[in-house]
Amino acid sequence: MAANLDFASLGFGYIKTDWRYVSNFKNGAWDEGALTQDDKIVISECAGVLQYAQTVFEGLKAYTTQDGHVVVFRPDLNADRMIESAKRLIMPEFPKERFIDAVKKVVEANLDYVPPFGSGASLYLRPYMFGSDPVIGVKPANEYQFRIFCTPVGPYFKGGVKPLTLNVSDFDRAAPHGTGHIKAGLNYAMSLYAITWAHDNGFDENMYLDSATRTKVEETGGANFLFVTKDGKVVTPKSDTILPSITRRSLLYVAKEYLGLEVEEREIYKEELSDFAECGLCGTAAVISPVGKIVDHGKEICLPSGMSAMGPVTQKLYDTLTGIQMGKIEAPKDWIVRIK
Ligand code: PLP
Ligand code: COI
Repeated sequence: MAANLDFASLGFGYIKTDWRYVSNFKNGAWDEGALTQDDKIVISECAGVLQYAQTVFEGLKAYTTQDGHVVVFRPDLNADRMIESAKRLIMPEFPKERFIDAVKKVVEANLDYVPPFGSGASLYLRPYMFGSDPVIGVKPANEYQFRIFCTPVGPYFKGGVKPLTLNVSDFDRAAPHGTGHIKAGLNYAMSLYAITWAHDNGFDENMYLDSATRTKVEETGGANFLFVTKDGKVVTPKSDTILPSITRRSLLYVAKEYLGLEVEEREIYKEELSDFAECGLCGTAAVISPVGKIVDHGKEICLPSGMSAMGPVTQKLYDTLTGIQMGKIEAPKDWIVRIK
């Protein structure tokens, strides 16, 4: 039972909760879907997902607010992005309204697992879809399964908000005209070698460069970048081969509309890195995790914000975004969906 969980000391791991949502696509249509307690999936040994990695996923969080409500953050944008991901892998669209309804059902059914306000933890929801019927020639599956499970989580990086050390990776994450802009499992499978190398060599994460010229900053394995210039402008990489982070889009809005900062989305060259005052990784799991140091083949780029705390602008962005998510600061219209 949830009462036994020490929410404040959770890391980013999987804890099985009571209920998950399942819907199956067959003969060209989704069934009506339902919650189930069964956490096991039985599929053909030749399922499209197992042979050719036909799978896409999403990530979003539910929070307990200051006044005791349970809310989710911008699930409509996850629904939209999953539709884009599915289209790119020739998978059926899971309708937006149904996606949002399934998110609500899963949170409602697992309320005991939503970490309390102030614990620093949240309930992470993982919607995903995969090709479930046999495929042996390379082609899309005919049948699919959509599921959402949830798991209570703490900070993605060990040490919470301690500034991270990044490695400029020799491996590429995404090719021009490839799949870098969608949330497909295959993008993560091919990053496992690079992240294992980075961890084995003392780094927290990789900074990937654009694979065409290897001169521009893209993203990490699981988050977008935000930089702050020495004169306080918030800058983020513009690229067709990175995931359009919902956290990043929200933070740019917050920077401009709540904090009155100048924001810019543009190509960012590796050569400029030493000009920035602050750097952070942003994503649902990462929230905003500060970067203290970037190492490019032995050359250390130390951000002036240092290795002990977040820079001041990053901190303001963090406080405002999490304040909105936890109901301490009024949210822009439609950002927060109340479940309880
Ligand atoms: N980039 C990658 C590769 C990711 O996996 C994620 C996580 O979802 C993000 C960026 C951040 O996106 P979001 O803010 O929508 O979670
Ligand atoms: C998320 O932030 O939701 C992700 O999917 C990133 C992943 C590395 C956990």
